[in-house]
Order: sequence, then C-alpha cells, then structure tokens
Amino acid sequence: IGHGRVRDLLNSMGLDEKIGQMSQLQAGGGWIPDELAESIRQGRVGSVLNEPDVETVNELQRIAVEESRLGIPLLVGRDVIHGYKTIFPIPLGQAASWNPAIVEAGARISAEEAVRAGINWTFAPMIDITRDPRWGRIAESLGEDPYLCGELGSAMVRGFQGETLTAPDSIAACAKHFAGYGAAEGGRDYNTANIPENELRNVHLRPFKAAADAGVATFMSAFCDLNGVPATGNQWLMDQVLRQEWRYQGMVVSDWESIVEMSVHGFTHDDEQAAYEAAMAGIDMEMASSSYRDHLENMVDQGKISLEQIDRMVERILRLKFELGLFEQPYTDPSQHPELLNKANLKAAKQAAMQSCVLLKNADQTLPLLPSKLDAIALLGPLADDGFEQMGTWVFDGEASHSVTCLQAITELIGRTTEINYVKSLATTRAPSEDSFAEAIEAVTKSDAAVVIVGEEAFMSGEAHSRASIDLPGHQTALIEAAASAGKPVVVVIMAGRPLTIEPILEHADAVLYAWHPGTMGGPAIADLLFGLESPSGKLPVTFPRVVGQVPIHYAQKNTGRPATDETCIDIDEVPPRAPQTSLGMTSFHLDAGFKPLFPFGFGLSYGRFQYVKITTSHHSIALGQSLDVSADIVNMGSYVGEEVVQLYVRDLVGNVTRPVKELKGFKRIRLKPGERQRISFHLHTDDLAFYNRDMQLITETGQFHVWIGGSSDAPLWAEFEVHA
Ligand code: IFM
Repeated sequence: IGHGRVRDLLNSMGLDEKIGQMSQLQAGGGWIPDELAESIRQGRVGSVLNEPDVETVNELQRIAVEESRLGIPLLVGRDVIHGYKTIFPIPLGQAASWNPAIVEAGARISAEEAVRAGINWTFAPMIDITRDPRWGRIAESLGEDPYLCGELGSAMVRGFQGETLTAPDSIAACAKHFAGYGAAEGGRDYNTANIPENELRNVHLRPFKAAADAGVATFMSAFCDLNGVPATGNQWLMDQVLRQEWRYQGMVVSDWESIVEMSVHGFTHDDEQAAYEAAMAGIDMEMASSSYRDHLENMVDQGKISLEQIDRMVERILRLKFELGLFEQPYTDPSQHPELLNKANLKAAKQAAMQSCVLLKNADQTLPLLPSKLDAIALLGPLADDGFEQMGTWVFDGEASHSVTCLQAITELIGRTTEINYVKSLATTRAPSEDSFAEAIEAVTKSDAAVVIVGEEAFMSGEAHSRASIDLPGHQTALIEAAASAGKPVVVVIMAGRPLTIEPILEHADAVLYAWHPGTMGGPAIADLLFGLESPSGKLPVTFPRVVGQVPIHYAQKNTGRPATDETCIDIDEVPPRAPQTSLGMTSFHLDAGFKPLFPFGFGLSYGRFQYVKITTSHHSIALGQSLDVSADIVNMGSYVGEEVVQLYVRDLVGNVTRPVKELKGFKRIRLKPGERQRISFHLHTDDLAFYNRDMQLITETGQFHVWIGGSSDAPLWAEFEVHA
C-alpha cells in the first residue's frame, strides 16, 4: 500500500520530522499537556499511547493533521490485551480453550470496541513461551508450548487486524516481547534470560515466526537481557533473525523505556549510546523515553548512523499509517461503530470463558450439580461475588460494574428453585481472618452442596507481579477444608492468573474447576458449567506443578540420560534411616516431589467420558518431503454431550540435537454425543518434524518417530513410523 506515497512523503521530510515519527509519547489521559501538543505541532511525535478519551484522541489527531507541517496522523496505542470493555478471559485462560476460532473472535470484538476510542494499535498478542508460573506475566501469555502459542497468537493477530488493516474496525497487532522475556530468571519480572541459541530457535522464537507469517503489523522488543545483550539492542536478534532471515517488513517498537534501560543493564554508558545500539539493532520507534529525540539527529550529522537507515525505519512507520488508512480517516466517530458490551459481544465473552474453564477433578461425577436435586447450595469464597477481580490483569478499560459474578449468575440460573446461602467467608483472597468460617460451615450444613470460589486477586499476576510461592493465598485452603468438614459435596472453582500449587485442596474438594480470571461474563459461564447446561472442555495450556520447587516443569522436556520412571522414583517417606546413597533411584526426580506434575499439559476433564482407541498411521515409512495421516477413534462413553480437544504429539527418537520427549503437532476440537464415535485424522508432513540442529539449520532428519493421539500430553495411545531419505 502506498509505497509511492510513503517515498514521496519521506522525501519531503526534514531529519527532525523523521526522528519525530520514531517517537512514541505517553498521552495525558483526558487532557493534552502543552508540551505534547507543541511536540505534535512540530512534527516531533509519531505515536501516543494510553489516551482513553476519544475526544482527546481526535484533538491530538487534529493537531497532528492540521497543525503540523506535513499533517501526518498519529498511531494511537493501548494495551487491549483481553478485551476493551467486554473483557474476555486472560490470555492464558483463552489458551485453555485450545480454540483458535474463539481466540480470533475475542480479538475481533476487542478491536471493534477499541476503535471507538480512536485506538489503532494494540500491544498484543503476548507470545512469550512461559514455563515458570512464578512469573506474573504468564497470565498474559498463551502458555508453554510453541505450537499452541503460535496457532493461538496468529488467531489473535487475525482477529485484531481483520481482513485488512485499512478497515475502520481493524487495529494493528503487536507480537511481543521479542524475545526470551518468558525465561526471566527465577520468574522475577524483567530478569535475565539465558537461552542457548538452539533452544531459542526451537522453542521461544517459533510463535514469533508464526505471528510474522500471519502478517502481524508490529513487533515489540523485550525488556530482558538475552544471553548478555539486551533484546532492545540485540542486533543478532532484531536484524539478523527478524529482518534478514525472516524478511519481516513490519515496524518494531521498543518496550517502555527499554532503550534507555540498556544503560541500567550495564550494556551502554548513557542514553546516547543506548539510542545508537537500539537504532543499529533496528528498533523503529522508541516507547516513552526520549533518547531518539535527543540524540539521533546528532548521530546522523556525525555520520554514525546513516540517513538511509533512518529512512528505512521511518518508512516502516509511515507504511503502517497508510495501511491503517489514517491519512484518509484520522478521526473517530464512535456512533459509526457497534455498541460496546453489546449482546453479541457478551455472548462471545461467555462462550470464551466457558471453553477456558478446565475441569481438573470430578470425583463420583459430583458435577454437574443438578438443580432439581438441590434444595439449597452454599456459595462461599472471596471471589464468588467480585466483578473486579474476575477480570484479571491488564484491564484498563473494562469496568467491574459490567461483570456478572458467580453469585449473580447462579442466583439468576437456579435462584427461583434453590436457596443460595452465600457467605463470603474471607474479605480478600489473602485475608488472615477466619472469623466467618463458622458461618460458612453453618451455610454448608444447611445446604446440599457447597461451591467455594477462591483464587488470586487480579493484582497477583501480570507485569511486575511475580510470586515466589504459588500456593492458594491466605486462608483459602483452610476455608475449603472447613467447607468439607460439613460432609457435603464440595466444588471448588479457582480464578487465578497462573497455575497454582493446589495439591493440598484435592483431598477436600470433590470437584475442581479452574476458571483462570474469566472476564466480564465469567459468572454466567461458570454457572452454566456447574449446573450442566454445557460441559467443561478446556485443556491446560501449561503444566501444573505439585510444588513450586519442581519449576521449571513442562511436558516437552528432554529425556536425560537417566529418565525417572515409576519404578526408579523413590518417595522420601519410604526411605529408611541411614539408607546408602546409591539406593536412591539414580534417575532424574525430586526426592520430595517425584518427577510428575500435578496435572500435565493438555489435561482437562469433561462431563463426557472420552476413550481413545485404534491409532493407525497411513504409512509405516515415508520419504523426506512426504506426508502421512495419523488417525484414532474417539468414543464418548459418558452420558453427557461433550467437547474434546484431540491432541497429536510426536517424538523424534534420535536427533542431531536431543529432541523433547513429546512435542505437540496438532489439535482438533470435536463434539460428541453420548455413545458417539468419531475417527479423527491428522495430516503430518515431514516439514512438521523440522527442528534447528547444532549448526542452526532447520532440518528434518530421517529415522524413527513415535506418535500419540489423546486427550492430554500423557496420553498412552501411540504408534510409530519412519522417515527415510
Ligand atoms: O505493552 C506493554 C508491555 O507489554 C510492557 N510495558 C509497557 C507496554 C505498553 O504499555
């Protein structure tokens, strides 16, 4: 689009105006600071972020278009991460749907709502691979697996950007944070990432390549130091990989002040050197800080940075503005767009929340609860009626008053026939007081079942909100225990921004539904699941450890030379005193936690009961460049209709570099009635088996492969095939 127009415009720009385009400034939030207005007038601003008021955005655009010499409109950025007003589940929750269509629809609605506020650029999707639940930003991620993350991240890109960026309801997406941010040491936010190049390419970069292939308009550099060089100044990453290998043409923005923070990292001496390193790496736009504004012009004058390079960077920014149609229509008229929080949007948010919930335990078919058999239920817990906390992290524009809570939804659904004895029991998830436990027990005693809604408050995950303990906070485990003491069935619903170490509650809870932070429509979604209007169908996008000391624990680990097995893994409690050291298994496990997680990646129950049988491969041996089909029958042996996410895993038995014990290669969501049987096939090409070898070449090797089809990463049904030359 407008390549000629971009060039013409570029040719008419002074150096100061070019550098102005490379600058993104924080807006005032409902007013326009004089300094910002003046900078825009002088053509010294290319973008603003965080202006929620549409009138103010229009005025900012007016100043840019009518009062600056060249009339270049602004990019208006905002973190529309999982919804604008209609809040969808946190991204990690959406990932649990394993449903690209649901994720795409959520992003589409978010874009349609956000454009009403004049927003034309969101800083999502966040596609960092996250294998450490201590890290608060795991909530914003799509989980631990490169394939799942790539598929869902690309779906988000399609949703935000629509059919074409020029459409009035499209916004530019941003693949962030390039790269390695999810591997922050110890799960402490902003911390160092040390990732061998081979792992970086095989794991962390994969979803970014997928997003680039899906046409994501922008990338954002990560805050972190990656293998000794901050990502923002990392020429290998930004230039060699992104620009030269991947031929990425879109624009790259820094993270908030991440250019000047390179001096804090100890990588550069001052802002000037930081600006130089960032520009040389190819960061087109600086977010929030002003090192480009302050220093780039001098550096060009001194010949340190060429004008051609500046032109290339500015060209990418201008091209995006043309692609977004901002030169034709810089202003926003909210009345031209669908209503916020309209019925269809709320319905989609409910559907997303419903498919995000993961049923982790359901002893003796405690769920669904059948209202016809319940005279009364006890509803307990600090998150049962909190519209704010259920929205989760990264919510700037959503409002608690629009949320429908579990108390509201359950009352609406069954309140006419079933008595609801609600006792909040704890003021917050962290509250130290157990004062109302007696009242809670009394409520359960006079009810037929208890639903306890616990978890983490929204602020406990997200940026700069990491935790060293990932236990259920405060006295919530004690609350569940107290509820169970009344001898009635106990259903626990957990709203959280990360996997929590919930093993201690499992003995007290008959059923556990993991709802993440489910967003505006969390209440109705959970109510429908609890009372059987729909069956849970979410699957874990991330492994749940038993204890935090197992972290990192993820399904695609390497085998090691001494892999643990049930036979070799010894429980510390079974070891007699003075045991000789050599008797302790000699395989890879923790004495006090074994080697298995609490729940594996991909796990999730349903009210349907799915059995997998008859796995076959269409060929026993295929040549490089060929494909085969892997198929299995799935039967619903239960008495409820249910949806199941059928998953395909592969293991490459011997590689030029060691390969993971399993890798997800495909998934399909199916719906089966009781007794229904369906044959599901996956098409696998040898390119799908490719990986980066020790010379960093993407290759598929010949040899033996194992393949599994099942309902989680520990599915037992497997077959094998061979790839030959
Ligand atoms: O988009 C975010 C990023 O993820 C973290 N730092 C600030 C940016 C803009 O708000």
